[in-house]
Amino acid sequence: MPQYGAIIAGTGSHVPEKRLTNDDLSRMVDTNDEWIVQRTGIKERRIAANGESTATLAAAAARKALAAAEMAPEDLDLVVCGTISGEMIFPSTACFVAAALGLNSTPAFDVSAACSGFIYTLETAANFIKAGRYENVLAIGAETLSRITDYTDRGSCILFGDGAGAVVLRRGEPTRGLVYSGLHADGHGWEMLCCKPGSRHPISESLISERDQFMKIRGREVYKFAVQRFEELIEDALRKCELTTDDVKLIVPHQVNQRIIDSAMEKLGLGADKAYVNIDKYGNTSAASIPIALDEAVRAGRIAPGDTIILVAFGAGLTWANAVIRM
Ligand code: COA
Repeated sequence: MPQYGAIIAGTGSHVPEKRLTNDDLSRMVDTNDEWIVQRTGIKERRIAANGESTATLAAAAARKALAAAEMAPEDLDLVVCGTISGEMIFPSTACFVAAALGLNSTPAFDVSAACSGFIYTLETAANFIKAGRYENVLAIGAETLSRITDYTDRGSCILFGDGAGAVVLRRGEPTRGLVYSGLHADGHGWEMLCCKPGSRHPISESLISERDQFMKIRGREVYKFAVQRFEELIEDALRKCELTTDDVKLIVPHQVNQRIIDSAMEKLGLGADKAYVNIDKYGNTSAASIPIALDEAVRAGRIAPGDTIILVAFGAGLTWANAVIRM
């Protein structure tokens, strides 16, 4: 057991005001509220306004997490941000967030693991604490997916939304906080979910004419992958931590699709209320989905100090990850 634990000292989240409902989408593409609700559970998502961006949402979530932890930005030793829709190609979104918090020498960097991004970020942040390197670390998941969503593609534009969540980790006793985490990736599956602009496909007229500046997804394939991984990740977390499902207060999954969550929970023999779900309000916000859900669950009293929770996520890469937290 490590000498130190990385304890959750505070959580925060922030979403844009602007709502995009299913009815709004039905005026943009050939879809309807009934289809979207039945297939995904999503009723609306939040969309960043002009002037809002990944870093502004992230900084707002970070301020709330710091307030909950009763800490000032100056108490932070490190800022880590999980995102795939960063402020710019570079600098990192974390640098913009640190600057927005008034910091001018605190280290800051991003983690890119798509929808698994928050668990990758949390584990990275926690390891700096567990290694004895830092005492207080800010772990963020933030996205403005609306900026890379193709609103002419009904297969993908119904799914995604914008938002940010943050957690302040603090050094504490080793039996609490992030007690287990498993990270996985298989790059062979990159084409199932991707957004092409980059060194392989620099932005060009032909890239734009193919609408390849936007995310592309193979929904059906991702659906099967997510259901399978969801179950495996929960079973792995229980086995590795010698827990029964009765020991687990709440599962906070990546908000991928209500049907995927329901089907996995059923296969695991767990009641639907054991999973925290808010996909109806926000859609899939990739790296932001777990920290937003976690913050809501904490503030709603669904999780209290001493409770054990499991996080599971899966997404582009392909990547998948789980985490067990003793609050
Ligand atoms: N409105 C109405 N009809 C739609 C539609 C929409 N928004 N999107 C697709 N359809 C149609 C399809 O064209 C297809 O029609 P066809 O049978 O005439 O060909 C039919 O609905 C079924 O499409 P399919 O893609 O098989 O539906 P699905 O049940 O798999 O649901 C998703 C589609 C995208 C909701 C679902 O696959 C999913 O959630 N996948 C994972 C999402 C994901 O990748 N998330 C990001 C990574 S974490």
